[in-house]
Amino acid sequence: MKKINVITIDGPSASGKGALARGIAHKFGFNILDSGVLYRLYAYLFNMSFSSNEIANQIERHVEFIKSKEKLLVSYKSTDVTSELRSEIIAKSASEHSSKKEVREALFNIQRNFYDGAGLVADGRDMGTVVFKDAKLKIFLTASPEERAKRRLIELQNLGQEVNMPDLIADIEQRDMKDSSRKLSPLLPAEDAHIIDSSNMKLEEVFSLTEKLIKKEFI
Ligand code: DC
Repeated sequence: MKKINVITIDGPSASGKGALARGIAHKFGFNILDSGVLYRLYAYLFNMSFSSNEIANQIERHVEFIKSKEKLLVSYKSTDVTSELRSEIIAKSASEHSSKKEVREALFNIQRNFYDGAGLVADGRDMGTVVFKDAKLKIFLTASPEERAKRRLIELQNLGQEVNMPDLIADIEQRDMKDSSRKLSPLLPAEDAHIIDSSNMKLEEVFSLTEKLIKKEFI
C-alpha cells in the first residue's frame, strides 16, 4: 500500500487527541481534520431537520473550519457554532448517529477530501483503521475515564457550560462502551498504530513523544 502524508490520531473522547492534533498542525504546518466535529455537525444538522441525504451537501457547501493553535473554529453559514457543537447533548447525539452505516458513508468522502497531498493530521476513532488506512503514522491515544473526565470538565467550564464530575465520568464511560462495541468502525487501535496511554503524562510529554515519531517517519 502506498503510504500518504497523513498522521492519524485515534482514541476515546477527551483523551487529548484534539490538542495533540492542533499542536502538530501548528508546529509542522499540517492541515487538520477533527472528524468528531463532522459527526457533531451531522447531529446538529439532523436536529435542524435536514435529511441524511442533505447533510453532507450542507457540510460541503456551508461549513468552514478556521484553525489556530488553541482552537479549531467551526462556522455554519458564517455563524460560529463551535461551542454548540461541543455540548454534551450534541456529543451524545453524534455518538448515536455515528453507529449508522449511511452516516459513516456520507462522511467518508468529506473526510478523505481533507487530504490534498500536503501533510494532514486527522483525529477521531477510525482514522487509522478505515478512513486513512494508508497513513504514514498512526497513533492511538488513550487515558483513564477519570483523567479524561477531568480534562473535559475544564474544557466545558472554559466554554461556560455547567457540568459535574460524576455525570461526566458516567457519560464518558457510556460513550466509550458504545463507540467500542458498535459493529461499524469500532474504536480500536490499527494494527500498525503506536499506542500512547497519557493518563500520567502532560500534553508536552505526549507531544515530544509524537514529535520523535514524526521526525522518524516524515523528516
Ligand atoms: O471526538 P468527539 O467526541 O468530538 O466525537 C463525537 C462522536 O463522534 C463520538 O461519540 C463518536 C463519533 N466519532 C466517530 O464515530 N468516528 C470518528 N472518526 C470521530 C467521531
